Amino acid sequence: MMKRTISVLLAVMTVICLAFTATSCGSKGYDLEKETELVMVTNAAFPPYESKDGDTFVGIDVDIAKEIASRLGKTLRIEDVDFNSIITGIETGKYDMALAGMTVTEERKQSVAFSDSYATGIQVMIVKSDSAYQSIDDFFNYDEEGNPVSLKNPDIKIGVQQTTTGDIYSSADVTGWGFNDLNEDESTKTDRVTRYPTGADAVEALKTGKVDVVIIDNEPAKSFVDTNKDGSGNSVIRILETEYTNEDYAIAVNKNSTELLAKINEILAEMKSDGTLDSIIAKYIKAE
Ligand code: ARG
Repeated sequence: MMKRTISVLLAVMTVICLAFTATSCGSKGYDLEKETELVMVTNAAFPPYESKDGDTFVGIDVDIAKEIASRLGKTLRIEDVDFNSIITGIETGKYDMALAGMTVTEERKQSVAFSDSYATGIQVMIVKSDSAYQSIDDFFNYDEEGNPVSLKNPDIKIGVQQTTTGDIYSSADVTGWGFNDLNEDESTKTDRVTRYPTGADAVEALKTGKVDVVIIDNEPAKSFVDTNKDGSGNSVIRILETEYTNEDYAIAVNKNSTELLAKINEILAEMKSDGTLDSIIAKYIKAE
């Protein structure tokens, strides 16, 4: 009897939830009046935006979040999760805001609301320093109009952090600048992309020759180049000249957190005009 009641209840809840997916089931959004804590969610293996120094979270996103919390008069708590749990955690209201060098995409906009952009990112390609690859033109054969039509090396292996934009772009077919064949049967298709839990794991796979290229955001790429040196101080990996794509980073909140979103945008605008944002960025990114 009990079991049955529970399953009926679950079924009813699912129906209600389905009806409300557009407005994010299960969360009323952040209550600016009542809440004392503001929970930031991230994936802290993405320097200089977020990483861990011992037990302490550091990085551009961490400092921005601290500033937002303090200007709102809230206590900041940071949760470090898998990158692919961030969006669902925001959707269900488990976390209040995501700062994770997160790119604004149309697909993510279906699930969460984004703030104004606070930074831009570029997807770049990293290879081993002794690799023959020099630019994006070493990967693709083009038609007369310069559109990619096939891969120069069908045996190429790409490494990415799972569900990031690097994963999404490189998993496209070759005519969309991805590394998968056109019109391939899902069941027989050769997936050239290996998805790792973190960007750092993808870089490890590159160093050990498991993949030939890693596609990742430019600032983390630079930071991985700096931290992966041999005995004589030379980097064992390098970034290719060509930029793969340009993107905007923004803060994601639950679709029902409209008040919080408005406040975040206000604070971001203030931080841009009073110089706080620039000084946070300058602290972690050295001008070239
Ligand atoms: N900008 C990329 C994206 O939004 C990668 C972000 C990865 N961030 C992280 N904290 N690991 O998909």
